[in-house]
Amino acid sequence: MSQASGRLDGRRILVTGAASGMGRAIAEGFVREGARVALLDRNAEGVGQVAAALGAWSSGCDVADRAMVDEAVARAGGALGGLDGVVNGAGILDITPIGELAPESWDRMIAVNLTGPYNIVRAALPFLRAAPMATIVNIASVSALMPMPGTGGYSASKAGVLMLTRCLGMDLGPTIRANAICPGVIKTEMTRYLWEDAKHTAAAAERVALKRLGETEDIFRAALFLTCEDSAFSTGVALPVDGGFSWR
Ligand SMILES: NC(=O)c1ccc[n+]([C@@H]2O[C@H](COP(=O)([O-])OP(=O)(O)OC[C@H]3O[C@@H](n4cnc5c(N)ncnc54)[C@H](O)[C@@H]3O)[C@@H](O)[C@H]2O)c1
Repeated sequence: MSQASGRLDGRRILVTGAASGMGRAIAEGFVREGARVALLDRNAEGVGQVAAALGAWSSGCDVADRAMVDEAVARAGGALGGLDGVVNGAGILDITPIGELAPESWDRMIAVNLTGPYNIVRAALPFLRAAPMATIVNIASVSALMPMPGTGGYSASKAGVLMLTRCLGMDLGPTIRANAICPGVIKTEMTRYLWEDAKHTAAAAERVALKRLGETEDIFRAALFLTCEDSAFSTGVALPVDGGFSWR
């Protein structure tokens, strides 16, 4: 675990997908770095447990449900007395060849992975505009950068997140910066099917230059960089955190 540096002292950050995996690690790490956080997740009980351990505010919320997002983000901003940043971590994955992918699954991936971040940013904008300097961090994927078998719906949703991020950066500057992280294979619930099997883990590690799977701490560090002043002159960026997966 990295040493806390106080780089988020005084910042008020909304994190989605905070019941599990990267969103949870980011919530925990941001509190260590001095931020106050408001946590959202479809899993109300899970996010409530994470928040309770951190002394943070939380609410159950489906990011694909615009009315629910409007209401939850308004309450989050009220609870923290404003918002200086957002991390869009909520996401879902269905690996199925595009010809076999159920249309309902395509719709849901677009609704959660792409429209979800739009819904959250739209609802948070009055708060972000009121902050002297604000940040948006969207968790995309290496799947946004390159085709992989069976990821048509997921990759399309995540590629959309990258262009949304650039457009947010363009439209919302200079006081709001928007950047994206493109994780490779990170050990979370989403990839449990892969890393629980030693053979699959070894094969996945062998594919990348740094010869290991990613940890949620790797993504927290990238989210910290993009949320604090260290990245003050970066906006619209897509930062791979993938051990060298996506440039092959
Ligand atoms: N794990 C990886 O290897 C990997 C790689 C690239 C990108 N990603 C992306 O990283 C992000 C975090 O995923 P993770 O690996 O931590 O997975 P995870 O499954 O551990 O966590 C995802 C969280 O999002 C929540 N969520 C799902 N749908 C939601 C909705 N509609 N509304 C609110 N919350 C919802 C889940 O309840 C869960 O708590 C996702 O956007 C995912 O697509 C993951």
